[in-house]
Amino acid sequence: MRLVLVGCGNMGHAMLKGWLAAGIVAPADILVVEPGEALRERAADLGVATAADAAPVAAFEPQLVVLAVKPQLMRDVTAAYRPLTATGSVFLSIAAGISSDALKDMLDGAPILRCMPNTPAAIGKGLMALYATGDVPVPMRDFVEQLLAANGVVVPIADEEQMHAVTALSGSGPAYLFHFIEALTAAGEKAGLPADAAATLARQTVYGAACLAFDSDETPGRLREQVTSPNGTTAAALSVLMGEDRLTRLVTEAVEAARRRSVELGN
Ligand SMILES: NC(=O)c1ccc[n+]([C@@H]2O[C@H](COP(=O)([O-])OP(=O)(O)OC[C@H]3O[C@@H](n4cnc5c(N)ncnc54)[C@H](OP(=O)(O)O)[C@@H]3O)[C@@H](O)[C@H]2O)c1
Repeated sequence: MRLVLVGCGNMGHAMLKGWLAAGIVAPADILVVEPGEALRERAADLGVATAADAAPVAAFEPQLVVLAVKPQLMRDVTAAYRPLTATGSVFLSIAAGISSDALKDMLDGAPILRCMPNTPAAIGKGLMALYATGDVPVPMRDFVEQLLAANGVVVPIADEEQMHAVTALSGSGPAYLFHFIEALTAAGEKAGLPADAAATLARQTVYGAACLAFDSDETPGRLREQVTSPNGTTAAALSVLMGEDRLTRLVTEAVEAARRRSVELGN
């Protein structure tokens, strides 16, 4: 399988590292197109061929082209890849918001897969939501699922409209958790802890709780109840977070803002 990766910034590079580490594609079967010289060199260090623009792509005859550029650039960038549709290339976009119809319009009707990754993909713990148009050949779909599994858990999405909600939840979600760690750290300092101790406690608490929620057969709600004794310290804190559904309402508002922005980016 010959594969071209277009854009090797944060997410493109993270995914590429996972594919190579898992041995799913050989470095010789990958061509990275990236205009940034430093990013190109970083990719070349992984043993793949690199180019500053699309000039060598046609001769490479890729079966799969992965589009990992910013959504705002997609229309301009894809113009150079349009001719590949006639030779049977399939396209996988990781851009937020841009629909398969819009991508087909840019790419002469090529078969399209869309993946919404998240940054834990960099350590193989991503959530890789995957949508495919009906004309993607089954072996290609299977290959892409295998490829993305190197970056984390692959969740198939049947209804493309849900990709906006997926973007708002798992795509942007790690940033919400990072901010929660920041908030917990600041609160710990306010409560009298030295800054570095507060940071360690906050990070390890979120990590440990996430692992427990993942490993346990109990629901998160049940795990919460198990550590909340009546009238105890946790109950005092939860009455602040859960009173009038405060945290749920805030998170719902945040996810809805991200979903709306995803829809806007698609327009
Ligand atoms: N980061 C995330 O958490 C995340 C999560 C889900 C989805 N995504 C999606 O992933 C995509 C990439 O995001 P990112 O964070 O990786 O962005 P990024 O770091 O800016 O990477 C995109 C790269 O593409 C390069 N590029 C621009 N024009 C190009 C062209 N014509 N050919 C080849 N490469 C070109 C950019 O170079 P210049 O900087 O020189 O323009 C940049 O290095 C976006 O569509 C985003 O929606 C990201």
